[in-house]
Amino acid sequence: MLELLKEQPADNIIALMGQFASDNRATKVDLGVGVYKNQSGVTPIMGAVKKAQALLLESQVSKSYVGLLGNLDFVQSMKNLILSDSLRSENFVGAQAPGGTGSLHQMFLLLRAANPNITVWISNPTWPNHPSMLRHLGIEFRYYRYFSEETGSIDFDGMMSDLAEAKCNDVILLHGCCHNPTGANLSVGEWDSISRLCLKNEIIPLVDLAYQGFGDGLEEDVLGLRRMAGLVPELIIAASCSKNFGLYRDRVGVALYLNENKKVLSLTSDNLKSVNRLTYSFPPDWGATVVNTILNDSGLRAEWNEEVQDIRSSITYLRLGLRDALKRATNSDRFAFLGEHKGMFSRLGLTKGQVDLLREDHAIYMVGDSRINIAGLNEKSVNVLANAVAKIL
Ligand code: LMR
Repeated sequence: MLELLKEQPADNIIALMGQFASDNRATKVDLGVGVYKNQSGVTPIMGAVKKAQALLLESQVSKSYVGLLGNLDFVQSMKNLILSDSLRSENFVGAQAPGGTGSLHQMFLLLRAANPNITVWISNPTWPNHPSMLRHLGIEFRYYRYFSEETGSIDFDGMMSDLAEAKCNDVILLHGCCHNPTGANLSVGEWDSISRLCLKNEIIPLVDLAYQGFGDGLEEDVLGLRRMAGLVPELIIAASCSKNFGLYRDRVGVALYLNENKKVLSLTSDNLKSVNRLTYSFPPDWGATVVNTILNDSGLRAEWNEEVQDIRSSITYLRLGLRDALKRATNSDRFAFLGEHKGMFSRLGLTKGQVDLLREDHAIYMVGDSRINIAGLNEKSVNVLANAVAKIL
């Protein structure tokens, strides 16, 4: 019977992983999927993670079920990491979920159940899985302008004028920091303006936070979000530990919901339990418990902080190195915007044909919209990329 299934469109990022793996050229460069790699091309397990895992191996006495919301200490620790004690952040409920995608998925289910006519507003461009998941779940979505190719920065006026059309109880999906795919971040003042718009038009912000610590710092990257928590009556956060704890395959994430109304909090928590039970029963425990161990041990936490800082410095170094190498190779300032952006991603502003040429003729892999994972570069491949780009331009 399963022959009745329809072919599904491939996810561009995942398809590219397969293409890269089957390329036999020794010089190939992978700038596709957003994974940090060190100078030797390895995605290392963080030292703090290794130590926390060793501690857990020694101390864990049971593998019995934890609970439908997962490890609630982990949920609290993540709330503290993201929002600290910022205004109104004490009134929340949440659930551990399998990665940022799992967190988003469960919150989309709740939003759809609460309001079947909801529209979710997503940035143009955004992470391709946002529209794909919404389409899959039958949730209507619309794009708001976000990035101007001409200026290489945020089109904030365009964004605000599009969002002015959002209706009461619509949702705005925002990237907490290190916007994927552009790397262009909102300023704290812009976060405030969006918060005021949400308050005035009764729109609910949903913040996808996948790169905390990879832009300006663990605290700095969430300044706008923390202020938002103090300004809006309802806030949803879907956070991932894939990148900043390097726990990609262990699937660690958290879904948080803030509201001052205790009854709504309890209803939300019950609904989270229910959708979890109906989707996968219990979220996977190991990675979340590793994160919770790190966040609650001052030594491990300090070590982890330093490791995040090292990753951030290395991404910034490569980002600026690429900007300079492109300037030298193309003899132009066309790529100066790279220096303004934050986090793992930026788009080079190349056509699909140019992206194909880079892959076919130079074995350099990037997403079709010319998004590159800067954290996939090294000192050598920065120049390889810059020279190849100069050739195909
Ligand atoms: C990316 O954008 O490359 C990452 O978030 C990985 C993914 O799941 O797409």
